[in-house]
Amino acid sequence: MKERLLSPVFKTEDDQIENSLRPRKLINFIGQTKIKESLDIFIKAAQSREETLDHILLSGPPGLGKTTLAGIIANELNVNISITSGPAIERPGDLAAILTNLSAGDVLFIDEIHRLSRPVEEVFYPAMEDFALDIIIGKGPGARSLRLNLPPFTLIGATTRAGLLTSPLRDRFGIIGRLDYYQQSELVQIIYRAAAILKIPVDLEGAAEIANRSRGTPRVSLRLLKRVRDYVQVRAAGIITGEIAKEALQFFEVDSLGLDYTDRKILHLIIEKFTGGPVGLDTLAAATGEEKDTIEDVYEPYLLQVGLINRTSRGRVATSLAYKHLKLAEPKLFME
Ligand SMILES: Nc1ncnc2c1ncn2[C@@H]1O[C@H](COP(=O)(O)OP(=O)(O)O)[C@@H](O)[C@H]1O
Ligand SMILES: [Mg+2]
Repeated sequence: MKERLLSPVFKTEDDQIENSLRPRKLINFIGQTKIKESLDIFIKAAQSREETLDHILLSGPPGLGKTTLAGIIANELNVNISITSGPAIERPGDLAAILTNLSAGDVLFIDEIHRLSRPVEEVFYPAMEDFALDIIIGKGPGARSLRLNLPPFTLIGATTRAGLLTSPLRDRFGIIGRLDYYQQSELVQIIYRAAAILKIPVDLEGAAEIANRSRGTPRVSLRLLKRVRDYVQVRAAGIITGEIAKEALQFFEVDSLGLDYTDRKILHLIIEKFTGGPVGLDTLAAATGEEKDTIEDVYEPYLLQVGLINRTSRGRVATSLAYKHLKLAEPKLFME
């Protein structure tokens, strides 16, 4: 499969660089003002009362800073963080092992928390609410339940799809924060900060050009910055200016709205094959060869956000902006 330059989805090879670029303090986390200010208050309040911070649910599209925020929260609280993910906790026993290994006040970070299995989730309810594990010993009529106390901890759950969480699980989070796509000016700051750390010379126009095409997503900004650096190193040498950034991004087929090949393919499909829509999600997935989840988590939210598609009860439709962006003639509607 073709590597997606714009993919906001985490890749292991980016792991190290990404970790080196993660801010460690709340004040260095750019944007998301509402969440940041609330967290600042909750962290300080919990600390002054010497209490464990309430459980936190962070939701939003990939690459917006959920994992980074979880790390920052643990760092600000001065506690350890254990990191795992919904699909990695296969059986209730796995969860018990993780929970009994925590120290008082620790942060447990569970990525993709909407993918916890139901039996694991049920074990979680008393753990979140009462810091207790209910263990069943034995089988059949002789079975009895044993309650095991756990150290108090803060669960931070991250999800790209808050809507997929069951309500009993969602209700057990005291703090819920939704991360939104970033403003262009915020992305410029993020690019500047990363460029300084990675020692990549970039000017304001260069950073702006990269920010414009980053789909509101810091992870995409950072990836584009690195690719533009490669281009500059080989083709131009020197500082990344607006002109060079534009040239490089055109070379990598990232267009002025930050759309790549697959985004454009989705739009072309809706417009040309389905006369502008509506098209169902299954049809789109089949026609593009992408997973349904990927379309729903990654492509669609951004296309909706910039107003290239609309979601109706019967499926996705292309907007006038989509026709304009692809330079296609929009069919005229006649009122009868
Ligand atoms: N607000 C921000 N300020 C600075 N860097 C950020 C911010 N949000 C995300 N990043 C950077 O973007 C990358 C992806 O963020 P991450 O927390 O892994 O996203 P998510 O967990 O939501 O997929 C990280 O390298 C991080 O350093
Ligand atoms: Mg993450």
